Amino acid sequence: MNGFCVLLLVVGLTAAGLARDEEIDEDEIPELQYLNRSVDPCDDFYEFSCGNFKNIYPIPDGDITVDQFTILEKKLLDLTNEILSSGDAEEDPVSLKKARAAYKACVNVGYTDTITDPEITVVEDEQGFPMVQLIDPKESKPFGWNDIGDAVGKYGIPMIFSVEAYADLANSSNNLIRLFADPISNPTMIRPYEGMSYEQAIEKGFQDFGKEVGMLGRGENARSTLAPFDIFLRKMATKVGRAIGGQIAEEEIIENIDVMANFMRGVYQRGYIPDNVTLETFTSMSITLEQLNKWTKKHFGDKVEIDWIEYLGRVFANSGVAIDKDSRLIYGILNWVSMNRPETVKNFVMMRIFLYMAPDSDAETRAIFEEYYKALNLKLESRKDYCTRKLIDSVGTASLSFAVAYEYQLRHFNVNQLTKALQMVRDLQASYKEVLDEITWMDDASKAVAVRKVENMVTILGYPSFVSNKTLLDKFYENVRICKWDNYGNSKRIRAFKQAYQISQVAKRDRTFWDKSPFEVNAYYNRPNNKIIFPVAVLNPVFFGSNLSVLDYGRIGSVIGHEITHGFDAQGQMYDQDGIMQQWWSTETRAAFTNRTRCFIEQYGKYYIPEIDAYVNASLTLNENIADNGGARESYRAVKKLMSRSDVRPKTKSFTAEQLFFIAFGTMWCNNPSNDYLLAMQTGSHAPSKWRVNGVLSNMEQFSEAFGCSADSKMNPATKCRLW
Ligand SMILES: *[C@@H]1O[C@H](CO)[C@@H](O)[C@H](O)[C@H]1NC(C)=O
Ligand SMILES: *[C@@H]1O[C@H](CO)[C@@H](O)[C@H](O)[C@H]1NC(C)=O
Ligand SMILES: *[C@@H]1O[C@H](CO)[C@@H](O)[C@H](O)[C@H]1NC(C)=O
Ligand SMILES: *[C@@H]1O[C@H](CO)[C@@H](O)[C@H](O)[C@H]1NC(C)=O
Ligand SMILES: *[C@@H]1O[C@H](CO)[C@@H](O)[C@H](O)[C@H]1NC(C)=O
Ligand SMILES: *[C@@H]1O[C@H](CO)[C@@H](O)[C@H](O)[C@H]1NC(C)=O
Ligand SMILES: *[C@@H]1O[C@H](CO)[C@@H](O)[C@H](O)[C@H]1NC(C)=O
Ligand SMILES: [Zn+2]
Repeated sequence: MNGFCVLLLVVGLTAAGLARDEEIDEDEIPELQYLNRSVDPCDDFYEFSCGNFKNIYPIPDGDITVDQFTILEKKLLDLTNEILSSGDAEEDPVSLKKARAAYKACVNVGYTDTITDPEITVVEDEQGFPMVQLIDPKESKPFGWNDIGDAVGKYGIPMIFSVEAYADLANSSNNLIRLFADPISNPTMIRPYEGMSYEQAIEKGFQDFGKEVGMLGRGENARSTLAPFDIFLRKMATKVGRAIGGQIAEEEIIENIDVMANFMRGVYQRGYIPDNVTLETFTSMSITLEQLNKWTKKHFGDKVEIDWIEYLGRVFANSGVAIDKDSRLIYGILNWVSMNRPETVKNFVMMRIFLYMAPDSDAETRAIFEEYYKALNLKLESRKDYCTRKLIDSVGTASLSFAVAYEYQLRHFNVNQLTKALQMVRDLQASYKEVLDEITWMDDASKAVAVRKVENMVTILGYPSFVSNKTLLDKFYENVRICKWDNYGNSKRIRAFKQAYQISQVAKRDRTFWDKSPFEVNAYYNRPNNKIIFPVAVLNPVFFGSNLSVLDYGRIGSVIGHEITHGFDAQGQMYDQDGIMQQWWSTETRAAFTNRTRCFIEQYGKYYIPEIDAYVNASLTLNENIADNGGARESYRAVKKLMSRSDVRPKTKSFTAEQLFFIAFGTMWCNNPSNDYLLAMQTGSHAPSKWRVNGVLSNMEQFSEAFGCSADSKMNPATKCRLW
């Protein structure tokens, strides 16, 4: 019964908040400790809100920033770790027990290390590893596309390209198959640089690979040191060669790696669906499998023996989706593969499996892997954090995280919070419609579509409803096999499940489909599904859950508004209420929109970041700045309405209700960034937190009113930018 008694402790949680009109003790608002009250709020509101934050939160060792997001992530990591490491209760869902068993197998490396060289099973499974083995061509069957397809389906690892379900931008009830070049990425084990996506962080490591090492430290362009990935590959190949009794000499292995590297770069260079895609280019990128087979035959004749219907049939084997000649896919990078030898392709596929599986392999492989990441200057996590993060899917699509979420919602979440959050979403949608009524730069026909679009937004909140139903949850995971002793195999099966879950959405469209982990501290707007997403992780303090509504509106309310507004930014305007790509703004409205964006570009372009001697890139951050500005305005409008409706205005000794709203907004963005972090942010789509606060609030006359900022103060400039 260990661990079950905790379930009964759910009471005690903060009840859904109501504004009160009596004076509130300032000690009840923990975030006020971040304030530096000696700073004039009209001069630099970020410094006023967050001046003391860096004293309370120094940057942890090995990290490059600390902010409200990273603080909450750490807290959730601890809570979920507690769930995973506690004992099973008899009545726990089988799926939760599976997650715990997988955790145990992962964290007790002693188990894993009793099975040395688990890579052998991969080589046996795939019938040889030409990198290190002489294989008699008469004895081995050729390694073709169908074999690659099998490996993708079995290991859930993207190979030459990733396969996923991707919205059909011309049909709102359909998803297509998407093939896309995947940066050679490895999930978990490392913490990406904050402000960089996971893939970007890994890409950083690959940038050097084979670039100027001619390619691998030999020949004219030889460098004295090898790129970290070269070293990883050599050690890995040597290890596997030794384990399986390979016969190829070191020199030749290096040559094989060299050739593989060239192939990998080619794969890597083939791109994504760009943000600025048009319906024409999109349509030209999609094709039925029958057409694709014809195309392949015509262009490659007998050089490529691939039947795409059969190939994808294997990839989709576990997903419940039937593949036939009319299945459509988005394609891009196929020629390259046919231009390379099958051995090279196979070496590449095998190496990817080894790389992905490395953190779950034996001690020797883990050491090779850890050395690689250390060489990239990426932070290695403790085993405990790695295993927890893997099982809560902190990166990518959800898999076992739903099972963990079952226990999380029992222990740490009050379902009333979902009702309250949903009410806030509805308030913010209503707010946005009021804004539409008010603005003058948009014509009525465009406004009418905008209203439909905001009304038709799908809201994904907390966790999927089946999570709290044991029967449904266990049904969801019934095909996942977890073995107590087999961490390597578990890892493979969990990946395969995760992939099958994502691609099960091909050839249909469920706009409410949950593809995110409930434990991601983030929020999203998804254009093709016109969907806003708020995982349960972000429905926590400091963002949400205060017993003062005015604070919640300042924080999660502004975030909700931000995501809604993304439906109407430079990219959002190209998708209609069903997520179909079509221009629904009139030419005049579009011109007026663009004209107004100039104001933001000028405003943010003037923001200087002294730590790195650079200015905010105002065009790169434009969409996010528009969303920030819209979000805060919409939420302020919503909370004012709420206060007048309920006739309660909370205040403290020093602050009015309005001021508390803005303080909540400001403190949500408190951070303590290193210069490295600020530098990394410069290539991202978000401005530094300080300017996200000051930029938004200096555009709001309501802010200056609330704090009595004079017309000549920095936070109250004469020019105010506004779209929404
Ligand atoms: C509101 O929450 C704070 C902590 O955030 C707590 O100290 C206080 O007692 C709560 N007030 C009420 C009325 O629940
Ligand atoms: C608060 O701001 C004042 C005025 O800028 C400054 O002198 C002081 O050092 C700041 N305090 C903290 C804790 O940062
Ligand atoms: C849209 O996709 C659905 C589901 O695949 C399909 O049934 C329907 O015929 C498609 N509509 C059009 C206009 O292609
Ligand atoms: C889309 O952006 C890419 C660069 O990211 C650029 O090369 C291309 O010309 C753009 N296409 C259009 C239609 O704007
Ligand atoms: C769980 O789902 C099953 C199947 O839909 C349903 O029969 C059952 O009533 C649900 N249980 C609860 C407690 O809601
Ligand atoms: C562009 O916007 C400015 C204000 O930002 C306005 O004065 C001007 O009339 C606008 N021009 C057009 C063509 O809409
Ligand atoms: C700002 O970002 C844009 C891409 O949107 C890029 O073309 C430009 O070079 C960047 N400007 C600076 C100063 O880095
Ligand atoms: Zn955004």
